[in-house]
Amino acid sequence: MVGYAFMGTAHSQAWRTVNRVFDLPLRARMTAVVGRDPGKVAAAAAQLGWQEHTTDWRTLINRDDIDLIDVCTPGDSHAEIAIAALAAGKHVLCEKPLANTIDEARAMAAAAVRAEAGGVRSMCGFNYRRVPAVALMRRLVADGRIGEIRHIRAVYLQDWITDPQFPLVWRLQKDKAGSGALGDIGAHIIDLTQYVTGQRISGVSALTETFVKQRPLPPEIGGLGPVTVDDAALFVARLDGGAVATYEATRFATGRKNGLRVEINGSKGSVVFDFERMNELEFYDAALPSDEQGFSRILVTEPDHPYVGAWWPPGHLIGYEHSFTHQARDLLEAIATGAEITPSFTDALQVQLVLDAVERSAALGSWSEVEPARTEIAV
Ligand SMILES: NC(=O)c1ccc[n+]([C@@H]2O[C@H](COP(=O)([O-])OP(=O)(O)OC[C@H]3O[C@@H](n4cnc5c(N)ncnc54)[C@H](O)[C@@H]3O)[C@@H](O)[C@H]2O)c1
Repeated sequence: MVGYAFMGTAHSQAWRTVNRVFDLPLRARMTAVVGRDPGKVAAAAAQLGWQEHTTDWRTLINRDDIDLIDVCTPGDSHAEIAIAALAAGKHVLCEKPLANTIDEARAMAAAAVRAEAGGVRSMCGFNYRRVPAVALMRRLVADGRIGEIRHIRAVYLQDWITDPQFPLVWRLQKDKAGSGALGDIGAHIIDLTQYVTGQRISGVSALTETFVKQRPLPPEIGGLGPVTVDDAALFVARLDGGAVATYEATRFATGRKNGLRVEINGSKGSVVFDFERMNELEFYDAALPSDEQGFSRILVTEPDHPYVGAWWPPGHLIGYEHSFTHQARDLLEAIATGAEITPSFTDALQVQLVLDAVERSAALGSWSEVEPARTEIAV
């Protein structure tokens, strides 16, 4: 695993847990963790449960006792690490957004398709797909329970940089992060809604805003530096199955901490998911007699709900970290059985194409089409 901070901690928890909860044909062995600082990575290895640690990920990708590379670094290193690992025959789990640019994402998707021909698998870490209520939402939509989809209303609201004195961290620098709220949290609601509806965003009209344009540099440097990403991104969209949608991603929604909320209205009903109540799904069934209609709250903790059977008795809730354990479960199972893996790097390229269209639309003030992701490899 490369990178051991926020996502590295969440992924480590998943690798530690997955085989103790799910009965799988493969076992995860936590061989080595990579970081840039020798002392800190040694401490992280001990804390998180990795057998070895190193400061150079290149030393890992040719080792025979390592089968999978888990990329938990900022976006500026995803392409280099993932492409090298795939070329060396290692399966890859890569955090989202897949890359910082379309070109990098295309190269990664092509590398994944090439590697797949040799049985080498890859997945992008859009973990919210693996929240049981989101998987149930997709199942209800796929089963036709809300009919033809008309509206998607998706927001991802945070507030951690409303203070102008918050420092200029890597997430606020375009060369490191690719974009701001758009790629960090907007990417999740783009992926989630495309996944749940089975429709692809085909065009967007967007605006972006950077409210605080300069922020404090680290104390050893001093002074202010420019914020080079968006603080907020808003767009309307069309999807290729006929739905229309609104999306809002912001780090300035004062009071909102991790407010990922998606509402989908169809011809026969509606479904609503709110991450801060992640064990619940709201469902409105317009097929019921009118005197029984109303939004019902499904507590998604029954054994026949997706993933839930492996955990606790009904009503005993699960949390954020479980989505990463489910991600690890699905990846290990797919590696063992050869089953299709989603989101693939091509699925993640599709999200990247939407991010790019949003930025183009915001810059030009015009409608931007989103092309379907095609992965071409020279044969
Ligand atoms: N799936 C999710 O919900 C989710 C949530 C947060 C972040 N992410 C994604 O995960 C990735 C990492 O984000 P984070 O929040 O964990 O960041 P973070 O700042 O908490 O951790 C980044 C880690 O990468 C290491 N690192 C940076 N550059 C490196 C390099 N060149 N070589 C080796 N190590 C390097 C850092 O030392 C640190 O350990 C990003 O792509 C981000 O978008 C996903």
